[in-house]
Amino acid sequence: MPILTGHARLAGIIGWPVAHSRSPRLHGFWLERHAIDGAYVPLAIRPEDLGSAVRGLLAAGFAGVNVTIPHKRAAFALCDSVDPAAHRAGAVNTLVFRGRKIAGSNTDGWGFLANLRAHGVDPSAGPALVLGAGGAARAIAAALLETGISVTIANRTPEHAQALVHDLPTLRVIPWNRRDDALADHALLVNATSLGMQGHPPLQLDLAGAARDLAVADIVYVPLETPLLAAATAHGLRAVEGLGMLLHQAVPGFRAWFGVDPQVDAALRRFVAADLLPG
Ligand code: ATR
Repeated sequence: MPILTGHARLAGIIGWPVAHSRSPRLHGFWLERHAIDGAYVPLAIRPEDLGSAVRGLLAAGFAGVNVTIPHKRAAFALCDSVDPAAHRAGAVNTLVFRGRKIAGSNTDGWGFLANLRAHGVDPSAGPALVLGAGGAARAIAAALLETGISVTIANRTPEHAQALVHDLPTLRVIPWNRRDDALADHALLVNATSLGMQGHPPLQLDLAGAARDLAVADIVYVPLETPLLAAATAHGLRAVEGLGMLLHQAVPGFRAWFGVDPQVDAALRRFVAADLLPG
């Protein structure tokens, strides 16, 4: 960590817990690369303290913060303004403090699309099938709809899928147990559930009937190569790992807080991935 001056710019991530977050490492890499007089710190904030903590950070001169679980929705309500993606999601992951005002944005969907493009996958190439109906699925489905394609979701709990459709009425829904059959008609499959994450069951999916040009993206990045991505590669399909979404979603915040446009490249990926390896 570079020695800070009295002019140092400050940012961080608020979550509860926050110790698992890779964002300090990711932003720390960029701060060091660009020799920026600034710091990005983990901030463990209890849900009941969110409002006073955010106002305190603003008063203390922070440039802004990232927001992670469980604060994304509650932080939305604290914002003076939000961008369209945050408005659609009803949740924010990035706060920028401007004077006494809090500007909220949600860069998850943008990060997802940027990661697809970085892997040579055109998000608007054809219809997408998104598995899941949580916060991540909502941000991704909204971003994909914005590209003009048809988006279908499948989720274990139908009520959760319906809640998503209520807010994104052009979404199509299929039953969870029809996900295999749908693969033949889609250009992109996204796992936006927690299935396949270390300590969770794998996603049960049969890729045998998938369209040959199907691209398979996972939002899970622990492990880096999920069973789904390994199966996609084994079937000769393009696989898009989830870590890139984390890296790309961080770009707009860093730019706003520190005034430098950071690059997502192989060196950054290696640095953050090194912290994900077992042992
Ligand atoms: P996030 O906000 O990070 O997306 P979440 O809101 O907890 O997290 O969403 C997790 C997603 O994984 C949900 O779509 C959940 O399905 P339900 O809506 O039915 O809960 C899905 N999920 C988690 N465990 C699952 C399992 N064993 N089988 C199928 N889907 C599962």
